[in-house]
Order: sequence, then structure tokens, then C-alpha cells
Amino acid sequence: MDSLGIIGLGTIGKAIAQGAHRALPQMPIFGTRRGEEALPPSVTRCVSNAALASQYRTLVLAVKPQQIDGVLREIAPFVNGGHTVISTCAGVLLQHLRELLPHAGTIVRAMPNIACELNAGVTGLAFEAAAPEQIREQVRRFFALLGEVVTVQEQHFDAVTAIGGCGPAYACVIIEAITDAGVKQGLPRSASRLFAAQMLLGSAQLVLQSHAHPAEIRDRVTTPGGCTIDALTALEDGKIRAALIAAVATAAEKSSRLARHASVPDTCAPGRR
Ligand SMILES: NC(=O)c1ccc[n+]([C@@H]2O[C@H](COP(=O)([O-])OP(=O)(O)OC[C@H]3O[C@@H](n4cnc5c(N)ncnc54)[C@H](OP(=O)(O)O)[C@@H]3O)[C@@H](O)[C@H]2O)c1
Repeated sequence: MDSLGIIGLGTIGKAIAQGAHRALPQMPIFGTRRGEEALPPSVTRCVSNAALASQYRTLVLAVKPQQIDGVLREIAPFVNGGHTVISTCAGVLLQHLRELLPHAGTIVRAMPNIACELNAGVTGLAFEAAAPEQIREQVRRFFALLGEVVTVQEQHFDAVTAIGGCGPAYACVIIEAITDAGVKQGLPRSASRLFAAQMLLGSAQLVLQSHAHPAEIRDRVTTPGGCTIDALTALEDGKIRAALIAAVATAAEKSSRLARHASVPDTCAPGRR
């Protein structure tokens, strides 16, 4: 991939641009948005979506689901077999994208998250059945620059959206709540926030690097008769697991409703305004 065109430089478009620029500072990135607001310094503004599509072969579509059809119609006359088109839109199916871009080479769905801006994201990818292996590898390698990559069947995209795409919002609620808990115990807010965020980051690294079951790590921290078991009991009383499972199920259900009604407003957490 020697250049990148991004249509829609909002929250996720900018996160992709920033992560890509950090990883590949020499790669030219071009983009569009509707408004006049400045684009990130790493991105060169293109005059129109049509101009972007006619000049660049790898396009990321990062507009809201209710905006995608207009963009697809605008670029369709300029998209040909040499293009790889990657949509980040929650709920917009490959089949729908293909119907509106019949001449595109390869169409891909990607569900990144906001941490891509720090190259610490996780992106779910789903490819059309006919996607050539060389293009699959190119797309996987690009998103691997922005964090971890998981290729899934498209049928799992609602779950991927609900966990990977929406997940940073859940994690931030947990960080915020633990920060407040520290403040309640008298810790200065800045110290409490650092403890909360770094504790989550380090715990995640332990899970990822040791490949251990999270319960094994939990047990290593939980001294018999100690304070952690009392805290875990309070968490179970508060039904933390049930709340998280319900949150993900609700987001996945919303994402699947977007898929059935692609023209309804994007009210799924990734990109909600
Ligand atoms: N936010 C997330 O964390 C996240 C994560 C994963 C996936 N997603 C998905 O990514 C998509 C974008 O979400 P978002 O949160 O980034 O939304 P957003 O912040 O509203 O960004 C959408 C961008 O698209 C631009 N746009 C709209 N119509 C356009 C057009 N015709 N031509 C060029 N640009 C146009 C908007 O420009 P103006 O602002 O100038 O109007 C805006 O910059 C959604 O489909 C969402 O499901 C989001």
C-alpha cells in the first residue's frame, strides 16, 4: 500500500490517519470531510470524494452508516477493479457495499477502535469470499500497524462492533469509576486516575502475554482471607458480569438492527453523536 485515501475524517478516520502516519510517516494520506475544519497535519485534503477515488486505489470509508450510500454513489463511477475499498461503518453489510460499488476490486469491512490512533487498537476484518489472498494480506498488514487484527466471518461483526468498536467506552467508564473510588478513599484525583488506567493496562498485558485464563491471574492476586476477595464479593453483589454481558448484547443487537435498516441513524456507540 503506497498511499491511503480516507473519506470521512471524523473520530475514527482521524484515529486511522494518526496511527498510520505514526507507523509509516512517509506514506501519503489524503482525505475528505464535509466541513471546513482542519484535517490532521498528516493528511492532505482532497477536493472531493470523486477526486480521491479517481486518484487513490486504497480507500477507507469512515462516514456514518446513514451517510454511506451517498458517498458510495458519488465514488462508484471512479471505482474499478484496481480499488480496495474498506468500510468502517457499523452494520453496513458487504453485500450492500458490493451492490453500490459493483466494479470495485475488493471490498472489506473493518471494525477498528479509537486506540488505533496510538497503534494500540484492535480491528476486526471481514472479507468478501472472492477477495484475493494478496489483498487480504495487504489489508491485514495495514491494520496490524494500528494494533491487533482479527479476521472473522461477517456474521460475527455485530459482536466485534459491540466489543472492539464500542469497548473503549466501557473501559473508560471503569477507569472513571475506579478513579472516583480512589478519590473517595482520599487519593488525589490525578494519582487515582493513573493507578486506575495503568492497572487496567498492565492487567490486560498480563492476560495477553501470558495467555493465561484471566481467572488464573485473579487467583494470584486473591490472598485467602485478604482484601481482594472482599472486593470481588462486592463486585459479584453488584452483578458486574451480568452488566457487562448485557451491555455487549445490547450493542450487538443495535448493530444488527443497523444492518437490517442501513438507512436509520447511527446510534451504535462507535461514532454515536
Ligand atoms: N467512533 C468510533 O469509535 C468508531 C469505531 C469503529 C467504527 N466506527 C464507525 O466509523 C464510522 C464513522 O464514525 P465516527 O465516529 O468517526 O463518526 P464522525 O466522527 O461523525 O465522522 C464522520 C465523518 O464523516 C464525514 N463525512 C460525512 N459525510 C461525508 C461526505 N459525504 N464526504 C466526506 N466526508 C463526510 C464527516 O465530516 P464533517 O464532520 O465535516 O461533517 C465526519 O468527519 C461510523 O460508521 C461508525 O460506525 C466508529
